[in-house]
Amino acid sequence: MGDEAQKLEVKIERLLPGGVGLAHANDLTLFVSLAAPGDILRVRIDRVKGKIGFASVVEVLQPAPVRVEPPCPYFGRCGGCDFQHLTYQAQLDAKVQIIRDCLHRIAKVEAPSDITMRASPSEWHYRSRANWQVDSATKLLGYFERGSNRVCDVEYCAVLVPELQGALEQLRHEIVADPPGELLRNIDATVGDEGVSVAPPLAGLKTDIVSRRIGNEIYYVSAEAFFQVNHQLLAPLIAEALGNATGQTAVDLYCGVGLFTLPLAHRFEQVIGVEAHPRAADFARRNVESAERGNSTTVREGVHNILENPDRGRVKIVNARVGDWLTKHSHTFEPVDFLLLDPPRTGCENRDIAGILALHPAHIAYVSCDPATLARDLKKLIAAGYSLDSVVAFDMFPQTHHVETVVRLSNTRN
Ligand SMILES: C[S@@+](CC[C@H](N)C(=O)[O-])C[C@H]1O[C@@H](n2cnc3c(N)ncnc32)[C@H](O)[C@@H]1O
Repeated sequence: MGDEAQKLEVKIERLLPGGVGLAHANDLTLFVSLAAPGDILRVRIDRVKGKIGFASVVEVLQPAPVRVEPPCPYFGRCGGCDFQHLTYQAQLDAKVQIIRDCLHRIAKVEAPSDITMRASPSEWHYRSRANWQVDSATKLLGYFERGSNRVCDVEYCAVLVPELQGALEQLRHEIVADPPGELLRNIDATVGDEGVSVAPPLAGLKTDIVSRRIGNEIYYVSAEAFFQVNHQLLAPLIAEALGNATGQTAVDLYCGVGLFTLPLAHRFEQVIGVEAHPRAADFARRNVESAERGNSTTVREGVHNILENPDRGRVKIVNARVGDWLTKHSHTFEPVDFLLLDPPRTGCENRDIAGILALHPAHIAYVSCDPATLARDLKKLIAAGYSLDSVVAFDMFPQTHHVETVVRLSNTRN
């Protein structure tokens, strides 16, 4: 295909999971990056796979009414924000449509007619955690460029909270003045009430333990462990995930530093949190201890090691500390009252879903940052007898296509 032959005029129909625009031309389904729904564009096809073409914008011929000028000078090059060219309302609408699309196409279930979307109180300067890429040879610090492993040098990032912008500037100063060795490839940073924690420590910034109060709970964390990015939405996120759940027993899978474990401990007689990452699991234990939640146990384990499901469908408990408790609920088929899971973007492994089902939770709250893997996993839970009670979206990541979804389910076979 010659250069001219690869350029086409298209109209963007809507935005798809992954944030790309959908168009059709020349017998191809086109995925156009950085497009707005309703745009008429001249696009270049960069790659074709079967009947799908991956395209980029060459010229905006007629901008959609929802298209705005992206304020960030790095937009298009930096791999971070891919929705800055949309009004905030259009970002929210696209995310609701993406969730509905995934539920329909992948989970084969219709979402409730209204998917509530909780907007972020701040559209900019909301990000309290960051992972920055370093290229010591060229003294660059920032994020990966779109679709590449090259570092996009970012002096100012408009989605960071001011404390993190300050840390970025401090680190940049050090990296330019005294470049670290090749081994340093990325830097994690997180903000708490006492300031910024940075891992590895650099430029006078330390891997301090910081705390953050969310509602009535205090969480200790450092840059080494996962903590949510947008703290302004955490109280409503927790409230939605827990709903009015109460009872005897609750399980919090992929519990991180215990974001949901602590509030669950007020509602249930007994709570078990499971987290594989050593530092996050240490913080989870510490957070439970300092909140004096003696009815909660957090376990440093992979979910599959806790709920291992051999072929016969019986749960084998690997970890002795929680073994008795989980054995009671799996082997005697006495249902767990409530199970919350908040896996990484990749979702749950098959064996984890099998283990969850073997616990027969009466109610499940699935917290997800990827609508596609969420829908894939929901399909399995629905096939096993669960039905959707509610779907609520949280715009934890404004200016990007990413979205957090909380789905509550009930067991219809109990
Ligand atoms: C999306 S985060 C959620 C953490 C926590 N629920 C929160 O909201 O802060 C997912 C967590 O799962 C942990 N994780 C990833 N794979 C795991 C596995 N196989 N078993 C247990 N934990 C895992 C990660 O370390 C991370 O802390």
